[in-house]
Formats: sequence, C-alpha cells, structure tokens
Amino acid sequence: MKKKITFLGIETSCDETAAAVIRENEAGTAEILSNIVSSQINEHKKFGGVVPELAARSHLENIEFIINKAMRESKITLKDLDGVAATAGPGLIVCLAVGLNIAKSIAAFSNKPFLGVNHLEGHALSPGLEKKLEFPYLLLLISGGHTQYLIVKDVNHYEQLGTTIDDALGEAFDKTAKMLDLGYPGGPAVEKFAKLGNKNYFKLPKPIINKAGCNLSFAGLKTAVLRETKKIGNEKKLKYNLAASFQNTINKILFKKTELAINEFKKKTEKKNIQLVVAGGVAANKTIRKNLIELSKKMNCKAIFPNPKFCGDNAAMIAWAGIKRFKKNLVDDIKISARSRWPLDSKAPYMKGPGLKL
Ligand code: KG4
Ligand code: ZN
Repeated sequence: MKKKITFLGIETSCDETAAAVIRENEAGTAEILSNIVSSQINEHKKFGGVVPELAARSHLENIEFIINKAMRESKITLKDLDGVAATAGPGLIVCLAVGLNIAKSIAAFSNKPFLGVNHLEGHALSPGLEKKLEFPYLLLLISGGHTQYLIVKDVNHYEQLGTTIDDALGEAFDKTAKMLDLGYPGGPAVEKFAKLGNKNYFKLPKPIINKAGCNLSFAGLKTAVLRETKKIGNEKKLKYNLAASFQNTINKILFKKTELAINEFKKKTEKKNIQLVVAGGVAANKTIRKNLIELSKKMNCKAIFPNPKFCGDNAAMIAWAGIKRFKKNLVDDIKISARSRWPLDSKAPYMKGPGLKL
C-alpha cells in the first residue's frame, strides 16, 4: 500500500497563530488530523488593526501550546511525520520568524524535511484540502494583504493576470468597518451590518472598472466611503446603508473584473471545463460567493470556494501546500529566511506606487 504523506504545518504570518497536522488520503484530498487556530482578535481590537509588535509577542507566547495541541489532537508522534512546513512569507517578518524558527527546530530535531511555504500558495491550493482541483485553474485570491487573479498552472507555477494597484480587498473592508465604527475584524462586521441596509442607497465609484484589464483599485471607493461617513454622522440606518452600498459596489467590481479574467484565462489556456477558485479571508463573504456563483453560471464555469474555516489564515493550508511541494521534491534548506514580499508570479509587474501608468 502506498504510504500516505503526513505533514505538520505552522502559520504565524499575521494575527493567527496556527498549527495543523494533515495527511493526504486515497482520493487525493486531505484528512485533517488536527487544525488549531488561535486568533488574536482581542489583542488588536482596541487598535482597530494588527499591531506588529503585539502580534509577534502573542505568537511567541502561544506557539508552543498550539503546536503541542495540534500534535496531541492528531494522535500521531513526530516520528510519523514526513515533513514540517511553515509560512516563510509574505507577511510581517517579526511574526513569520516565530513560526519559521520553531518549525526549523522541530524538523532538525526530528530529522525530517523542512519546507518554507509561500502563504499565498497556501491560499491558492487550499480548496484542494476538500476537493480535487484540476490544473490549470483560475484563482481569485482575496485576502487582507492581496487581491489577485492568477492562472494556477501547477504547484509552484503561477501566472498573474491582474492585481490591485492600491488597497487589498480585505483592507478595503477593514477600513470601511473602521470608518463606520462597525467593529473588528472589519470584513465580517461589514457583511453583518450590510444585511440591515439598503444596498442601492449610495452611489459609489467603481475605480478603473473600464480600464487596466483585470487589475483592480479600491482606494477611490474607500475615499468616497470616508466622504459619505462624514456626512451621515451617527445615524445608524444610514451607516448600514453605506455598508450595504460598499459591499454591493465591491460585488459589481468583482463581477466585471472576474468576467474579464475568465475570458483572459480562456484565451490563454483554451481549457473547456473551467474551475474558478476563490480563496483567502474575503472568500468567506456570502454575498461575494453568491455573486461569483451567478457569474460562473453565466460564463459556463464552476466556482469553487474553500470551506469558510479554510478561507481565513490557518495552518491546514500550509501543511497541504507543504505536502504538494514535497511530492515535487521542492524541499527547502533549513537556512531560508522570512520574506516580507514574495509574489507567486515573479515575472508579474509591480503595480503599486507613483508613476504607475494604466
Ligand atoms: O486570508 P486572511 O485571513 O489573511 C490574510 O492573508 O490577509 O484574510 C483576512 C481578511 C481581513 O481583511 C478580513 O476582514 C477579511 O479577510 N474577511 C472578510 C470576511 N471575513 C474575513 N471580508 C469580507 N467578508 C467577510 N465575511
Ligand atoms: Zn492569508
């Protein structure tokens, strides 16, 4: 019988301290032996965003406990592992270093292969934990730090079709929640209060909707929300209307840009049965899921979303990316260091900063 590969994964790139033990099953998807995520929401709540020093300290305080818990729940021992994977970037260096260093120590101590995983590849492959994916597929990656359309050609092979030229989508949700004082974390708060509002009440801009291909921009939308926020004061109903209108505008932008990305994907790959995979923290948003399912029906492709527990940051996706890379012999040297910036497509143009021409 073929040996089933089992990995310990560790994730500390931002404000979640996470560890998981994952085993590949016969169906080519994952058996989740354990998946522990400790969120630092309460630590960052009063600041309305992640404070790097606080996050790093909290990772340091929790990491051993979280790894022990993941190992205990998995009911396996270190010697049963085939490798150890940890997020090596992109993210906050002080945070990444915590998970990366302890993962290296565990790998060295137990004489197992070590893999430094790109957090974005973790998100990109995450729906594969539960569903067999077929390369190439189109990925819309929407998280707190990134917003990108990519062709996922294979493990380790990505072609970027578009990206945000300013804020990431999760960032736009978080800032909107902060401006409207809806609570933290922002994305789920906007989704919750938008349900109580009229999504057609405010007319908000859809920046670069008719230009720059499937690149995206949210900064102008954020400024418009700020302007309206100042006008409406503390009127609750109007706040909910603004949250709903913001979310509705995002959905319109995603509908149009994803349609362009699907067409681009069709042209480049000539693939018939197209899978549109949507991953990252923002993929948990139910209105975005519904919107992109509708688009997929129109475009004759299949929309795939990870289970919400695998949308936000977690270590199951890091262990899974580790397994996938290990099977391609992409094992890393123990000397690799953390990286704050690490694009999946190294040839993609850098789309931020002054002088950008669209
Ligand atoms: O993938 P993730 O957990 O961390 C990063 O890699 O950045 O994504 C976090 C982002 C945050 O901006 C959060 O507000 C957003 O995902 N998010 C949501 C929802 N749940 C999380 N945004 C909109 N609607 C949601 N339900
Ligand atoms: Zn993430």
